[in-house]
Amino acid sequence: MGSALLLGLGLWLGSFGLGAAGAREQVPFWVRLSPEQVAVLPGHSVWLNCSTSCPLVEKPSLQTQLQRGQTLSGPCWVSYELLDVRARNSTASCSVTRAGETRGATARITTYKPPGGVVLEPPVLVGGVYTLRCHIIHVFPVNSLVVTLRLGGRLISHDSLECFEGQNMANVTVTHQWPARPRDLWQPLTCHWSLHLPGRVVHSSSAPVTLAVIAWSSQSKALACTSIAALGGLLLALGGAYLRRCLARKSQM
Ligand SMILES: *[C@@H]1O[C@H](CO)[C@@H](O)[C@H](O)[C@H]1NC(C)=O
Ligand SMILES: *[C@@H]1O[C@H](CO)[C@@H](O)[C@H](O)[C@H]1NC(C)=O
Repeated sequence: MGSALLLGLGLWLGSFGLGAAGAREQVPFWVRLSPEQVAVLPGHSVWLNCSTSCPLVEKPSLQTQLQRGQTLSGPCWVSYELLDVRARNSTASCSVTRAGETRGATARITTYKPPGGVVLEPPVLVGGVYTLRCHIIHVFPVNSLVVTLRLGGRLISHDSLECFEGQNMANVTVTHQWPARPRDLWQPLTCHWSLHLPGRVVHSSSAPVTLAVIAWSSQSKALACTSIAALGGLLLALGGAYLRRCLARKSQM
């Protein structure tokens, strides 16, 4: 009944539109598809709402490679469910035609994968300096990741990977040097990650480790470096140099 009423209204407005075509062509109308950007877990569904300035004469049409689910509609909007989103990046475009003029709006749908784990290595003390190393395992998209280290609740490092260009899931290792000071002894150290996605932030942290004086021999230190290097192709090891390069590139843009 509702749709018959809508159709009747549409026909009436349509004939009005034809009768006054010259005037109506000048009338601007807008089309919005919201949210404009959204991040979902792979395999999940998402709702996109296409709305337009009233009246809705013709049903909007949606173009997307994604699988469609249910549809809901109201006076000047149609909401579409898109199912089983798996591609890293997809788009959906909604278009509305009124008095021969077509307008559209596009939304970007991305997928994300929160880390499969966050592991803080036991701090290694060499020459009065701790090497703190945190591994973030299997995360995507890397350029939305922020990693911080906190010691006794205080922030001691903050690394943003916004300049990272790789498009694949990656393991990220953040390494930070921290001077050994008596007051930090036995303080809990934690590694926190957050993914800054369109419309939301997801975050978590590692189990705490305490700063205890562990003096490694030069031999075991060499072994540790070798094992990291062996994973080199798979690991993204972040250092100050990388971040400086990244920031320099950003400031040029
Ligand atoms: C879609 O958007 C319209 C206009 O902003 C709003 O009135 C309506 O409640 C929305 N529908 C849904 C299902 O969110
Ligand atoms: C990431 O780390 C995990 C656990 O350490 C490892 O099994 C996996 O092979 C690594 N993958 C990549 C892409 O580096």
